Amino acid sequence: MALKIGQTSKIPAFLAMQIMSVANDMQAAGGDLIHLEVGQPSTPPPNAVCKALQASLKNTESHAYSVGLGNSSLRQRIAGHYHDWYQLSVDWQKVAITPGSSLGFAISFLSAFDRGDRIAIATPGYPAYRNLMLAIGIIPQLLPARSAQNWMPDLEELVMKDDIPDGLLLASPANPTGVVISDKELENICRWCEKHGVRLIMDEIYHGLTFGLQTQSALAYTEKAIIINSFSKYFCMTGWRLGWIVLPDDIVSTAEKLAQNIYISAATINQLGAIAAFDCYEELNANLPRYQENRDLLCRGLPAEFLGEHAPSDGAFYLYADVSALTNDSVAFANQILADIGVAITPGVDFDPLEGKTHLRLSYAGSTRDMQKAIQRINNWLSKKLPSG
Ligand SMILES: Cc1ncc(COP(=O)(O)O)c(C=O)c1O
Repeated sequence: MALKIGQTSKIPAFLAMQIMSVANDMQAAGGDLIHLEVGQPSTPPPNAVCKALQASLKNTESHAYSVGLGNSSLRQRIAGHYHDWYQLSVDWQKVAITPGSSLGFAISFLSAFDRGDRIAIATPGYPAYRNLMLAIGIIPQLLPARSAQNWMPDLEELVMKDDIPDGLLLASPANPTGVVISDKELENICRWCEKHGVRLIMDEIYHGLTFGLQTQSALAYTEKAIIINSFSKYFCMTGWRLGWIVLPDDIVSTAEKLAQNIYISAATINQLGAIAAFDCYEELNANLPRYQENRDLLCRGLPAEFLGEHAPSDGAFYLYADVSALTNDSVAFANQILADIGVAITPGVDFDPLEGKTHLRLSYAGSTRDMQKAIQRINNWLSKKLPSG
């Protein structure tokens, strides 16, 4: 007799990770691959962080569990970061350390919502929000945030349609569009959520990665939001799998119990290393000109058909390109590019199940040399495909 398989088996794949897996296999087989599919900096973690991790090997604490919400020194240092960056006072006891912000989302969804609740998300948006919600019985409500909407969701439309969700999850800077929400807009969003009883989850994982713009934390405008952040992007510690949440008072205890039961604690040794990350702003800020140069190189060097009316890319490290002149099947198109020229790119349907068929996301978190090589390969490839003149 067939055995039961959970409904969760219907969870969609995270295509960026699928492509990375194929590209890694091709690389292991000797292929010359360029990775533009995932958002991971090619720069290593700061020196002081690596040294702190090494030093903590001698510390017996490093091979033990930490408590569910995480190492208290790291939580205090994160609270201090809110003072250093945003002049905000944060109670460190409300900071939870998670294994990547990915688990931070799971903890947040499970703490604040029930099965059947709806959380609105901007579309295009980060795929795992939607996929994880589906896996745990929360309904993702997709709000268009495309070029025609100025890349922002229209919250007033929800009021007009009497279609107010239980939660709203936004990222700024956003993945894949790079849209940065201004401080004024963010304040309005926080007020809107409080007025309509909507729980805001603000994904601030790309803070620190803006070009010429400063971003305030939503914490400046509301105490009710769940704030998510991570060591994976600005801090260049992607594989360390560390993130954090600043929790509102009413879910701290639930989040702690969920953490205890789901993963016990984030990896202690990595937490001990991460404390030093907050002494490394100067070293980390030095990565910004490279990202900006990479973005500008791609915008200048890729053919117009490959960029289309691309999203603003004012922050994070992605270019969300409109390739409607070339394809209406972004999955087949990305697979073809990978197979033909070894450039790994993520199809837009990962971020936007409907209109993403005509889009691709390119990550420019890698080296400038890789961007140059990718531009060359794509141009050569397209010149063979497109009729000349
Ligand atoms: C917008 C956004 N949020 C969250 C994550 C998850 O990151 P991590 O689990 O590495 O912290 C990512 C990863 O790319 C992302 O782009």
